[in-house]
Amino acid sequence: MKEGKSTILITGGAGFIGSNLCEYFLSKGHPVVCLDNFATGHKHNLKDFITNENFRLIEGDIRNLADCQNAVQNVDYVMHQAALGSVPRSINDPITTNDVNVSGFLNMLVASRDAKVKRFVYAASSSTYGDSEGLPKVEEVIGKPLSPYAITKYVNELYAEIFSRTYGLETIGLRYFNVFGRKQDPQGAYAAVIPKFVMQLMQLESPKINGDGNYSRDFTYIDNVIQMNELAMTTQNPAAVNTVYNTAYGDRNTLNNLVDYLKKYLAEYDPRIADVAIEYGPNRAGDIPHSLASIEKAKALLGYDPQFSLQEGLKEAVSWYWEHLAP
Ligand SMILES: NC(=O)c1ccc[n+]([C@@H]2O[C@H](COP(=O)([O-])OP(=O)(O)OC[C@H]3O[C@@H](n4cnc5c(N)ncnc54)[C@H](O)[C@@H]3O)[C@@H](O)[C@H]2O)c1
Repeated sequence: MKEGKSTILITGGAGFIGSNLCEYFLSKGHPVVCLDNFATGHKHNLKDFITNENFRLIEGDIRNLADCQNAVQNVDYVMHQAALGSVPRSINDPITTNDVNVSGFLNMLVASRDAKVKRFVYAASSSTYGDSEGLPKVEEVIGKPLSPYAITKYVNELYAEIFSRTYGLETIGLRYFNVFGRKQDPQGAYAAVIPKFVMQLMQLESPKINGDGNYSRDFTYIDNVIQMNELAMTTQNPAAVNTVYNTAYGDRNTLNNLVDYLKKYLAEYDPRIADVAIEYGPNRAGDIPHSLASIEKAKALLGYDPQFSLQEGLKEAVSWYWEHLAP
C-alpha cells in the first residue's frame, strides 16, 4: 500500500456506483478496500482494477458486524454504498431491505466509530423527499416516505446524525438522484430505467414507460456523483460536515425526453433504433410525478460544480453500453 494517501473503504464496491468510486480513487493513488457480498454487485465490475496492488477485496456482508469491523481496519475514510436499492424490491421484501439498509448501516457506523475513521460518507437517497411536492427539493424540507426503501434511507440519515452528535463521528450523506452511467446493471427485475431501456433499444425491443412519459427526474451522471463523493471526503469546511446534500445535476427531464435522447444517440450506432416504438403502461405504485434537486447547498458548502448534463452523460453511457453489451 502507498504511503501518504488516505485509505478508503468502499462498501458495495462491486456495484454500479461503488465500482466507479473504486476505479476513480485507485486512479488517484489511494489504497482502496472494497467490502461486498455480491448480492447485486458483480465480479466483472472489478476486473479493470482487481490486480491493482492498492486494491483489496473483502467478500463479506454488512449484516455481519465482524465483517464490518474487519473491513474498517486501518481505513481513513468510509464511502458506504452497500444497500439493497429499488423501491419495488423493498415493497416485495421489506424485511431483507431493512436488514441490509438499516441494520447493516448501523453495523458500519459502529465499526467506523470504533475504528476512529476520519469521516463516514454514505449513499442517501432522493426517495427521502417522499410525498413532499415542492420543487426544487431543498435538503431541509422532506415529506413522508412512500416505500420501505425510502424509510430505510431516511433512517440512515437519522442514525448518521445521532452518531455525529453522540460519538463525534463525522458523517456526510449524499442524497443521490437517479444516478446513471457505465457499469449500471441492465439485468434483473429491479434494473434501473436507463440501462434497461438501453438494452431493449439495442435489441430493437420497445421500451415500456410507466405512465404517459411526462413524469420527470433529475437524472445524474456517475461522474457528478464521483465529484460529490470526493468533495465530501476532502472538505475542510467545518460547516460542511454532519449534514446531507442533494447529489444531482439540478435539471429535470421527462421520461419521454429521456427515450428520445436514447434513441437519437443509439441510432448513431444502429440506425434501425430510431424507428423502435415506445409502449406506455399504467403508473407504478410509489412513483412520484416529478423530481428536481436544488444543488445550491452543495455548491455553496462543498464547491460542487457538476460537469455532465443528462445529454452529455447519456452520450458517454450509450457509448459504454454499445462497446460492452451490444448484441
Ligand atoms: N443508483 C441510484 O440511482 C441510486 C439512487 C439513490 C441512492 N442510491 C444508493 O446508492 C448506493 C449504491 O447503489 P447502486 O446503484 O450502485 O446499486 P448496486 O446494487 O449496483 O450496488 C450496491 C452494492 O451493494 C452490495 N451489497 C448489497 N447488500 C450487501 C450486503 N448485505 N453486504 C455487502 N454488500 C452488499 C451489492 O452486492 C452491490 O455491489 C445504494 O446505497 C443505493 O441505495 C442509488
